[in-house]
Amino acid sequence: MESLDGECQSLELLKAQAHAWNHIFSFIKSMSLKCAVELGIADIIHTHDKPISLTELAAKLSIPPTKNNDLRRLMRLLVFSGFFARKRDGNSHDHDEELYIPTTMSALLVKENDANVSSFVLAILDQTLFNPWYHLSSWFKQDKVPATPFEVAHGRDVWEAISRSPAFNSLCYEAMASDSRFVAKLVVEECGEVFRGLRSLVDVGGGKGTMARAIAVAYPQVKCTVLDLPHVVASPEASEEVQLVAGDMFQYVPPADAVLLKWVLHDWSDDDCVKILKRCKEAIPSKEEGGKVIIIDMVVDLDIGFPELGETQLLFDLEMMVQTTGKERNECEWKKIFMDAGFTDYKIIPALGLRSIIEVYH
Ligand SMILES: C[S@@+](CC[C@H](N)C(=O)[O-])C[C@H]1O[C@@H](n2cnc3c(N)ncnc32)[C@H](O)[C@@H]1O
Repeated sequence: MESLDGECQSLELLKAQAHAWNHIFSFIKSMSLKCAVELGIADIIHTHDKPISLTELAAKLSIPPTKNNDLRRLMRLLVFSGFFARKRDGNSHDHDEELYIPTTMSALLVKENDANVSSFVLAILDQTLFNPWYHLSSWFKQDKVPATPFEVAHGRDVWEAISRSPAFNSLCYEAMASDSRFVAKLVVEECGEVFRGLRSLVDVGGGKGTMARAIAVAYPQVKCTVLDLPHVVASPEASEEVQLVAGDMFQYVPPADAVLLKWVLHDWSDDDCVKILKRCKEAIPSKEEGGKVIIIDMVVDLDIGFPELGETQLLFDLEMMVQTTGKERNECEWKKIFMDAGFTDYKIIPALGLRSIIEVYH
C-alpha cells in the first residue's frame, strides 16, 4: 500500500502538471479572445436587447449551423474566463438553448465603445508583434545587438517598422488611441487636480492627439500641444483643439507649464529615459512656478492588490523587453531616472489600476 507521503507527493505532482499545462495553453486564452474580437461576438451580444441563444448568435455572426457546436465550445471558454456570462433557458435542456449575456469585460470588447480594448487585442496579437517571441531565447545569447527580439525577427526596431507599414501603423495607433480614450475619461473626470492651474501642456509622444484633445476639451484654459514623429502627426487627424508639432523628443520639447508622457517612458531604456526627461525638464518651469512632468505608466508593485494585477505588470514588462528597449519600473527605478535627469521631487498617484500618474518636479 502506498504511504500517505507518497500520495501527497503524487497529488503535488499532478497539481504541478496541471499548472504547467495551464501555462503551456495560456496562448489559447489570447487567441480565443482575438477570435471573439474578429468575429464581433461582443458587438452582437451587446446590441441584442435580451439574452441571446447560441443559434441566434451563430446566425447573426453568419456562422453556418455546422459550426454551432464549435461556437458553443469557444463560448464555454470565454464564459469561463468571465468575458461573457451564461444564462440557462429554464425551459430547455438543449445545449443550443444556452443564453449569453454581457459582462463588464465584454463591454470592453465592443468596438463602438470609445474605450474598447479590441484594437489592443488585435495589435498585440498581430503576427508582427507575435513573431519576436519565437526569437526570445536566441536574443538572450547575443550581446547588445540586436537590441530587442523584435529586431532579431524583423531586422529593424519597432518604430521604424511602424513607419514603413501603413497597416501595422494604423493597427498600433488605433490601439494606442483607444487606450488614450479609456485613460482620458478617468483622468479628466477623476483626476482634475493634476491639471489645476496649468495654462499649457505638451503631450510628448502623444500619438495622434487623442489624450491631448480630451484634456483640451475638458480644460479649455490649458493650451495643448502634441509632439510626435513627423509621420505620426502628418496624418489628417489634426484638430482645432490641439496643435500638432513634428519633432524628436530626444532633441527638443516645446516649452509648457506641464509635459505629459503617457505610455512613452516604458518604451525606452533608463539611459534614453534620462535623455528624454532632461529635455522635458528644460521645457517646464520649476515646481514653485507650477511646472511638472506628468507621467502615466506602471509603477510595478507585486502587492498592488489582487494577484492578477501584479502578474499583468510582469507580463507587460516582458512585452516591453521583447518589442522595445524599455521596461516597466518599480518606484526605486523611477526615482533613480528622475534624480539622474536632475529632478528633485515626485508624487505617485495610484489612480489608474495597473498604471499610475506620476508627477515629477524640479
Ligand atoms: C506607446 S506610444 C504612446 C502614444 C500615446 N502617448 C498614447 O499613450 O496613446 C509611444 C509614442 O512615442 C512616439 N515616439 C517614438 N519615438 C519618438 C521620438 N523620438 N520623438 C517623439 N515621439 C516619439 C511614437 O510615435 C508613439 O506615438
